[in-house]
Amino acid sequence: MVVKEIFNSSFATYYEKVINRLSSPLYVNRWRRALVRGALTFCKDPKVAVDCCSGAGNVGALFLKERPDCKLINCDISKRLLQMAKESFGKRAYYIRSDNRFFPLKGKSLDLLFSSFCVRNSPQIELTVREAKRCLRGKGVWAILDFFKVKEKSLCTLTNETLFKSFMGLNKLVSKENKRAIEYLFESIERFMTVAEFKELLEKEGFEVAEVKNFMGGIASTVIAIKREV
Ligand SMILES: C[S@@+](CC[C@H](N)C(=O)[O-])C[C@H]1O[C@@H](n2cnc3c(N)ncnc32)[C@H](O)[C@@H]1O
Repeated sequence: MVVKEIFNSSFATYYEKVINRLSSPLYVNRWRRALVRGALTFCKDPKVAVDCCSGAGNVGALFLKERPDCKLINCDISKRLLQMAKESFGKRAYYIRSDNRFFPLKGKSLDLLFSSFCVRNSPQIELTVREAKRCLRGKGVWAILDFFKVKEKSLCTLTNETLFKSFMGLNKLVSKENKRAIEYLFESIERFMTVAEFKELLEKEGFEVAEVKNFMGGIASTVIAIKREV
């Protein structure tokens, strides 16, 4: 099952209505708020922002509280999740069904780009990084949140990893039809880059990394990158 199928299947609804609803107040919204705060530290007055892999708009909702006048475009590959975003924002935002490797957006048209649990899902991470660079203008900011791979695990990492795996394991038992999609999540983390490897890629592709924050022993991290002007 490829990621596109996963998020266009019934898993999308299960993710949003169960996994996300339980995990957001516990810890994920803290990471998302740090992402929005970090982005706005380096891009104080964005006029156009894209939430790439927006899903139902969890980052956009926090962002619009801070900058209600900014034009927000939600991009996602999942019709179901974009529909949920539409139900929540209505005319306060825009919606484009698109792949994170090919944005149907003009070059140099964005001030700010959010990618929350997004880059890891790209079948070609380098293309996603290049698309981000193409679409940002000036010293545009790219704010990324993800589960990066952790090579050296502290006691804190191992404890949090066990808690996270138990939570997801429980979801596999409760929702047997989504077992494969949940297993994909763990596989994708193991296949993904470490934060240090991702930083190296960003720097090679024309970004300066301005801030990295690790949460729960590095289970999740935010990375704020600024497009380097040539
Ligand atoms: C775990 S959800 C995260 C949603 C949201 N950013 C959040 O923080 O709740 C991952 C999202 O990435 C989207 N996605 C996965 N692969 C994608 C791709 N190649 N291009 C665009 N969106 C993708 C999925 O449809 C899903 O909405």
